[in-house]
Amino acid sequence: MSMDFSRRLSVALALLLGSASASGLAADLTAAKAKAKMCAACHGIDGIATVADAPNLAGNGELYLARQLQAFRSGERKHPQMSVIASGLSDEDIAAVTAWYSAIKVSVELPE
Ligand code: HEC
Repeated sequence: MSMDFSRRLSVALALLLGSASASGLAADLTAAKAKAKMCAACHGIDGIATVADAPNLAGNGELYLARQLQAFRSGERKHPQMSVIASGLSDEDIAAVTAWYSAIKVSVELPE
C-alpha cells in the first residue's frame, strides 16, 4: 500500500466517522494511531483500558477528551500519572490522540 493511498484512506475514514473532520483537528489517523501508542499501556490502542484504574477512551467525544487532557496539562485536573503524561503533550499531540480515540466505534450491550 503506497503512502498516498493509506493517507487518503485514513482521511476518508476520518470523514466517514465524522470525527477529525468536524472539528478540523488532525485528520491523519495513521499518524494519530502512532501517537496513541504512548497511551496504549494503560488505555489500550483500541481505547479499552488495560489497567483497573484507567478509564476506557474509545468512542468518547473529541472535545471531551481534549478538555480532560488540557485540564491535566494546566493542573486544573490532577492525577499522579496523567498530569506527568499530559505535561509532555503539545496541542498537536492532543489533537492527534483525541482524533484517534474518538474515531473508534463502540457498541454496547445492555445487561439482561
Ligand atoms: C501509566 C498509565 C497511563 C498512561 C500511559 C496514560 N494514561 Fe490516561 N489515564 C490513566 C489513569 C489512571 C487515568 C484516570 C485518572 C483519574 O483517576 O483522574 C487516566 C485518565 C485519562 C483521561 C481522562 C478520561 C476521563 O474520562 O476522565 C484521558 C482523556 C486520558 N487519560 C488520556 C490519555 C492519553 C491521550 C494518553 C497518552 C498520551 C494517556 N492517557 C496515557 C493512566 C494512563
